[in-house]
Amino acid sequence: MRLENKVAIITGGANGIGLAACERFAEEGASVIMADFDEAAGKEQEALLKSKELDVTFLQVDVVDRQSVSNLVEETVKKFGKIDVLINNAGITQDATLLKMKPEQFQDVLNVNLTGVFNCTQTVVPYMLENGTGKIINTSSVSGVYGNFGQTNYAATKAAVVGMTKTWAKEFGRKGINVNAVAPGFTATAMVEKMPRKVIDQMKAAVSLQRLGKPRDIANAYLFLASEESDYVHGHVLHVDGGIMM
Ligand code: NAI
Repeated sequence: MRLENKVAIITGGANGIGLAACERFAEEGASVIMADFDEAAGKEQEALLKSKELDVTFLQVDVVDRQSVSNLVEETVKKFGKIDVLINNAGITQDATLLKMKPEQFQDVLNVNLTGVFNCTQTVVPYMLENGTGKIINTSSVSGVYGNFGQTNYAATKAAVVGMTKTWAKEFGRKGINVNAVAPGFTATAMVEKMPRKVIDQMKAAVSLQRLGKPRDIANAYLFLASEESDYVHGHVLHVDGGIMM
């Protein structure tokens, strides 16, 4: 068991990559908080994972809302006494080319993908500092590294996540907290499935492995960065993209 006695909060845990991570982490012995806005999916998936004897608790959160994030963190500490791992996985897209993108579309994506990561990390870190240990994993994207057509807002947030990861690595490394990021390639979740079939086929063709990622491919990278196997990996952005661009 790679995460025995560890307590992990996984934001955006009710669907897609986050859901795969909740399952994978619990399989490795963690007590997992599935933190998500989507209450219907959260409750359904919590019941499903519990039926497999996995220690997963759904708590509703809006990562954009400071009070909601505080409630999440306080409830987690009340229930488990500590937080060992934070996976800042919640994210949204609202795609449009630059000239068609409405200011609200730009701002909504910044609110969740950027301010949400700031809110969760700033609220969790004091508890990690108290224990002198912790692992923070942020979710970037190939779009943030290479840019992507129609994703001005999304690419901006995912590049910013890299900057925050490296900054926090510098601030908290000496205090025992590991900070890293994962940059997934195109992964078969609702986020990608809502794109036109032609675009999905083009994505697959651009990948050396000629397939989309599976949510579990990304969850396994989160797991590595959350486990003690990665204790000397710090301020790193792990690309998990099937070799989309090299
Ligand atoms: P998804 O759409 O399947 O799941 C995202 C989850 O985040 C949902 O459960 C949603 O309810 C939750 N969420 C959205 N806004 C929230 C909020 N304000 N507060 C709390 N939860 C909220 O997406 P997917 O594909 O699983 O993405 C997970 C992460 O991976 C995201 O950060 C995404 O940007 C990133 N990513 C995904 C890629 C892909 O191809 N699917 C590629 C690269 C990065």
